[in-house]
Amino acid sequence: MSPKFKNPRARHNFVGRTCSITGIGSYVPEKILTNHDLEKMVETSDEWIVTRTGIRQRRIAAKDEFTSDMAAKAAQRAMKMAGVTAGQIDLIVVATITPDMPFPATACLLQHKIGATGAAAFDLEAACSGFIYGLEIGQQFIMSRTYDTVLVVGAEKLSAITDWTDRNTCVLFGDGAGAVILQNRERSHGLLTAVMGADGEKGDLLFMPAGGSRCPASKSTVNARMHYLRMEGKETFKNAIQAMKSAATEVLRRCEIDISRIKCVIPHQANRRIIDAVGERLGAKPEQLFVNLEKYGNTSAASVAIALDEAVASGRVTRGDLVLLIVFGAGLTWGAAVIEW
Ligand code: UT7
Repeated sequence: MSPKFKNPRARHNFVGRTCSITGIGSYVPEKILTNHDLEKMVETSDEWIVTRTGIRQRRIAAKDEFTSDMAAKAAQRAMKMAGVTAGQIDLIVVATITPDMPFPATACLLQHKIGATGAAAFDLEAACSGFIYGLEIGQQFIMSRTYDTVLVVGAEKLSAITDWTDRNTCVLFGDGAGAVILQNRERSHGLLTAVMGADGEKGDLLFMPAGGSRCPASKSTVNARMHYLRMEGKETFKNAIQAMKSAATEVLRRCEIDISRIKCVIPHQANRRIIDAVGERLGAKPEQLFVNLEKYGNTSAASVAIALDEAVASGRVTRGDLVLLIVFGAGLTWGAAVIEW
């Protein structure tokens, strides 16, 4: 039986509209880069990476495989599950910090690749928090009766902005994509409530210095390796735990449910120690936490989308289960969402 949601923002209160997730899919590139491979590239060790992060390997896109290609594969899988054709899609939202190019939007390139000629399309940039931002945006368009079918994708080719000479960051990231189809449906299984937050004052904890209007590409920006991401690991780590815990607590409060009601907690897959610390602070049991970062590393906006797809495919999450998604990323940005699968 569906739980009761008194929160005024819960979707049950939008008369005559229900936003459901009718399809989900993900894609990761074939090439695997292991910690042992990294040992040959920078001064690091499998032991350091596993104990400090939990990551054992990550997927790396081919040279001629771009964010829009991975997005298209994930999207097609989600469309297949939903039984939706490209022509039915009204809106495409792509969350990414690694678009194919600064413009046009990767969402437009994706629209062309999947043949969704009738869809509006735009990118959103909320770094690792992008998928929850995208879910909330997609849901709002459905609830407002603007659209009936929305494709939300989180897709990243982080290998393209990773400095492969910097051991502080290059061991952390990977490539991939995850997608969902949101639709107005009678039967309710989808996003119940989401919270989102940001703190631009701490934007310099995790950023890419050059390539924008502040610091356009030049010989000197290339020589100074300013087209790669940079991160203050320790500060980011502390902020991640605090923000993820607060966002999750708030979304549970708004839904008026206790953590024990959640079948599966799917946190952003950045660091095993962050996931465990957040789980512990929320009072979640270890078996409630879904973790797949040992296989993929941190795939930013794709992270929780890929994890949710795997949780569903493996039977960890079945119809009617409550799922808690929690994200955190550059911006800083963060968010949490409760989904009734
Ligand atoms: O997706 C957005 C959110 N991202 C995150 O949430 C990531 C947050 N940060 C982290 O996950 C962690 O801070 C890291 C995994 C990046 C680093 O872990 P840490 O426990 O904070 O290590 P540290 O930065 O304090 O570094 C400890 C030592 C340093 O050596 P010294 O200065 O103590 O001699 C580093 O130079 O480990 C060294 N180190 C490495 N050693 C071997 C840093 N990277 C490596 C490496 N291999 N790859």
